[in-house]
Amino acid sequence: MLYTPANWFEPLDWRRVFAAEWPIEIDLGCGKGSFLFWAARTQPQRNFVGVDRLLRRLRRVDRKAVRAGLQNLRLLRIESTYLVSKLIPDHSVSTYHVLFPDPWPKRRHHGRRLICAPFLADVRRTLAVGGIVNCATDHEEYFEWIQREFQKDGGFVQSQPVTLPEEASTDFERKFVAAGKKVYRSRWQKR
Ligand SMILES: C[S@@+](CC[C@H](N)C(=O)[O-])C[C@H]1O[C@@H](n2cnc3c(N)ncnc32)[C@H](O)[C@@H]1O
Repeated sequence: MLYTPANWFEPLDWRRVFAAEWPIEIDLGCGKGSFLFWAARTQPQRNFVGVDRLLRRLRRVDRKAVRAGLQNLRLLRIESTYLVSKLIPDHSVSTYHVLFPDPWPKRRHHGRRLICAPFLADVRRTLAVGGIVNCATDHEEYFEWIQREFQKDGGFVQSQPVTLPEEASTDFERKFVAAGKKVYRSRWQKR
C-alpha cells in the first residue's frame, strides 16, 4: 500500500502505519521492489517499508503487493535522506537495506552519494540496539567508500553478509549478475 504520512515534519507513529507491531525493515531506494516483495511475502511477522523517489516504480510494487494480499508492506515516495533524518523515530528500525544505491562515479558527484557521515549518524540513531544495515553495490570504488564511511562512524560492527536465495535478488542485481559483474556486499550491526 502506498502510504502518505499525516505530517511531513514529525516522526511517524509506526502503530498508525502498520496494523501489527512487528520489527520494521526499510529498503531505501527499493526500485521495482523484487527484493522487498520477496522479503514481505516470506517474512509475514516483519513489517517492510519500501522507499523510492520514483512513484512509477512504487506503483508497480504496490500492484503486486495488493494482488498478493500483503498486509506487512508499505511504500513511501520520499527522498531517503529526508525520511531517515526527519520521519523515522529513534531506535525504531530493525534493519535498513541499501541495495545498489546510485554510485555517482564521477568525483564531482561524490557529494550526492547516499552513504555519508550525516546519513549514517541518522541511521544509527533510528536503528534499534543490534539493528542491521545491509549494503550491496556492483561498484568497487563505492563499496570501498561505504566501508570507510561505516568505519569512520565507529558505531557499527561489520559482520558476514547473509546469503539469500536467488528469488531475493533485486532487479538491478539480476541485470548486473547477468552481465557478469561482481557484487560487493557488507553487513553492519549497530553496537
Ligand atoms: C540503482 S537503483 C536500485 C534499485 C533497487 N534497489 C535494485 O537493486 O533493483 C536506485 C534506486 O534508488 C532510487 N533513489 C535514488 N536516490 C534516491 C533518494 N535519494 N531517495 C529515494 N530514492 C532514491 C532510484 O529512483 C532508484 O529506484
